[in-house]
Amino acid sequence: MKALVLAGGTGSRLRPITHTGAKQLVPVANKPILFYVIETLVDAGITDIGMIVGATEEEIRATVGDGGDFGAKVTYIPQDRPLGLAHAVLVARDYLAEDDFVMFLGDNFVVGGINGLVREFEAERPDAAIMLTRVKDPSDYGVAVLDTQGQVVRLEEKPRNPVSDLAVIGVYLFTTAVHQAVRAISPSARGELEITDAIQWLIDQGHAVRSTVIGNYWKDTGSVSELLEVNRAVLETLEPGVDGTVDKESELIGRVRVEPGATVSRSRIVGPAVIGAGTKVTGSYIGPWTSVDRDCVITASEIEYSIVLAGSSVEGVGRIESSLIGKEVRITRSAGPCRTHRLIVGDHSKVQITPLSHSPEPLT
Ligand code: TTP
Repeated sequence: MKALVLAGGTGSRLRPITHTGAKQLVPVANKPILFYVIETLVDAGITDIGMIVGATEEEIRATVGDGGDFGAKVTYIPQDRPLGLAHAVLVARDYLAEDDFVMFLGDNFVVGGINGLVREFEAERPDAAIMLTRVKDPSDYGVAVLDTQGQVVRLEEKPRNPVSDLAVIGVYLFTTAVHQAVRAISPSARGELEITDAIQWLIDQGHAVRSTVIGNYWKDTGSVSELLEVNRAVLETLEPGVDGTVDKESELIGRVRVEPGATVSRSRIVGPAVIGAGTKVTGSYIGPWTSVDRDCVITASEIEYSIVLAGSSVEGVGRIESSLIGKEVRITRSAGPCRTHRLIVGDHSKVQITPLSHSPEPLT
């Protein structure tokens, strides 16, 4: 059994972070999402991994390497343009050869692993197996309709009026039957070769498509709110420990990890939270569900339920919440006497500012 990990794509929902980096490498609890994906596969005994890469190929290659660190062998498969999940299967045809494979979206997160699902597939070998989970807003997902026996009868991609709340999660198991399916389908209205259409083709042709409704925690990390939620869930399982320096005036509460070379002075850190290697936290409050990556400086500030990427500084700005702060960002208090905001914000950034008390009435 091989794996096909999809680490290309556009990542438009995570702009501006994805203007400069791969979304699959955004850290959750200070570890790239893609590392969790590879570890999940290796844990299920799958070490021969094909990695679909697009515009961010170089960064992914530099970070993942040949997979040896994970006990895996990673083969990179370039996809010229992100033309859809089924297109990724098309471009991986030679790599996949005659093997069964797990297709795993490189920005998806399954807590509890996939071992059971893989073993079940190997034992029963349907032509395809999909995993379903109940979601609140099915219109954001591929949705499955089951018959009374629990067989998948229909799949719909991001339906406007969903007929069920069973979303297809980003882990699929296939035999070689899928290769004929991805060749048979046409691009959808959004111009992509949809894997849901390929699976629908298999169903229509009478192939066995098994579905399992999983209870495991699953999340797509395609948007900021989803990413913060996954970060929260992973931090809940964090191994606490102090490998850096924490002074006597500081207080650590709950699950807090202070990585090597980090220093915490005159600060209060309420877990679960992780403070990355070489980061300096001074006179600040770091609240629950916060990951601060390496080499950051947090001074006289408060941060809660947020992710701060490497090399950034937050100084004297009061409270920040529910935020994703990119690499080497500077957030500081303005020096002049005027209570103005001075912003140098990249394309597609989003900033929410709390109005000053003497601000004029909001525009209507
Ligand atoms: P998506 O999140 O569906 O697509 P995207 O990355 O283009 O993101 P957005 O909608 O925000 O623009 O993709 C799921 C995963 O599959 C993700 O890791 C990217 C990857 N992918 C490919 O490798 N090739 C593709 O052609 C597509 C569409 C996605």
